[in-house]
Amino acid sequence: MSTRRTFIKGALIGGAAATAAMVTGEVVAGLAHPSGTSSPTPSEPGVNKLTPLGLNQPGIASAPLKHTRLIAFDLKETAETAMSAWMSLLADDIDRLMSSQPLLADPQPELSSLEGQIAIVVGFGPSLFKKLGIEDQQPLGFSEIPSFAIDNLQEKISGGDVLLMLSGDDVLQLANAERALIRDSSYFASIRWQQSGFSSVQPDSSLGSQRNLMGQIDGTASAKPGAASFGDSVWAKRGPNWHMGGTTLVYRKIAMQLDTWDKLDHDDKEKVIGRKLSNGAPLNKSKETDFLDLTAKSANGLPAIPTFAHVRQAQAGEGKYPLFRKPFNYVDEIAEVGSSAGLLWMAYVGNMAEQYLPLQEKLATFDLLNKWTQPIGSAVFALPKGRLHKTDPLCGGLFS
Ligand code: HEM
Repeated sequence: MSTRRTFIKGALIGGAAATAAMVTGEVVAGLAHPSGTSSPTPSEPGVNKLTPLGLNQPGIASAPLKHTRLIAFDLKETAETAMSAWMSLLADDIDRLMSSQPLLADPQPELSSLEGQIAIVVGFGPSLFKKLGIEDQQPLGFSEIPSFAIDNLQEKISGGDVLLMLSGDDVLQLANAERALIRDSSYFASIRWQQSGFSSVQPDSSLGSQRNLMGQIDGTASAKPGAASFGDSVWAKRGPNWHMGGTTLVYRKIAMQLDTWDKLDHDDKEKVIGRKLSNGAPLNKSKETDFLDLTAKSANGLPAIPTFAHVRQAQAGEGKYPLFRKPFNYVDEIAEVGSSAGLLWMAYVGNMAEQYLPLQEKLATFDLLNKWTQPIGSAVFALPKGRLHKTDPLCGGLFS
């Protein structure tokens, strides 16, 4: 009987996972959505499962699942020539976990078979390209995120060579998948940091927005999957082939000073953001979907949306695409620094240098929200394009 050890050995010497995938030769139907996004493929009765296959990696362009786990790895020196084998092994694991099937020689087949939505994506940090001497394969505009004046970054929860990000609705299923992926990665890499988060999508929001721990409705003006400009904002259109149809994930772990935030009165809290706490409407309007008019004045002649309000400072600007933000809340058992709760602010961008860095620089200088928030972790990962067939490499061909 095969064991995980013999399987991993096989993957290293002969690409066993890829071979196993080739034997099954499956191609999930309905994978190439005309809009360039992965389309959910109905599988089990009553469950619209996300498919591991598609033009883009799974779950990025779909509604946030309730929980997320991020694992950032640092590559072991001994495994620098084994990226392709590691990716083959992960591809097989991801295909199975996302289809509720046991892994090869699975020590916990009952848990891997749990039904429920789960999406797993992989990404590569700037440090990996450097380590492997393949900087020429980096996406356009991709680099380590510089430190900003507001940052209090902790090295041990920042950066990373390789990211695995899992999202799901069932915490047990997610915990098993996370353990399995870590187990199968242990030959190749060590864990640099791990982070869990949760989302709380508002059932009555037509915009898919959620509440964060400051009580605000978050996500109103984020790029919307299906909108005409979504693909241009999120998926890479230029750059190395392995990344075409991929994206870049900007990750910022932002601690919230909730004790001092709680002391602000209701009106002041709303002015810090520029939107109402009750329903996310602009301050001078009534509905979340109402137009944010930055020229409007209040009765006293002052701007209805205050000058240093977060939404005013965060405007994308003329001719720019709205940012696709997909944050999760976090509450840590033990505070890394200062506060144990906050936001895992995440955005998916086609070009980080153009879409994220200038905006972050501006917010770091002028955003009133900075008085109650502090970035303590930071990382960026290039996410390869999706796989159309199970035999396609998880890395988009970067290492093969
Ligand atoms: C803990 C930190 C943060 C919190 C609590 C927060 C919260 C919010 C809220 C409540 C909104 C209004 C509703 C919406 O459109 O989503 C918003 C909008 C926005 N935020 Fe943040 N945000 C944070 C950090 C950031 C960062 C770091 C960036 C970018 C570097 C950013 C970029 C944006 C953008 C682009 C908008 C939309 C502005 C518009 O077009 O109206 N936010 N944020």
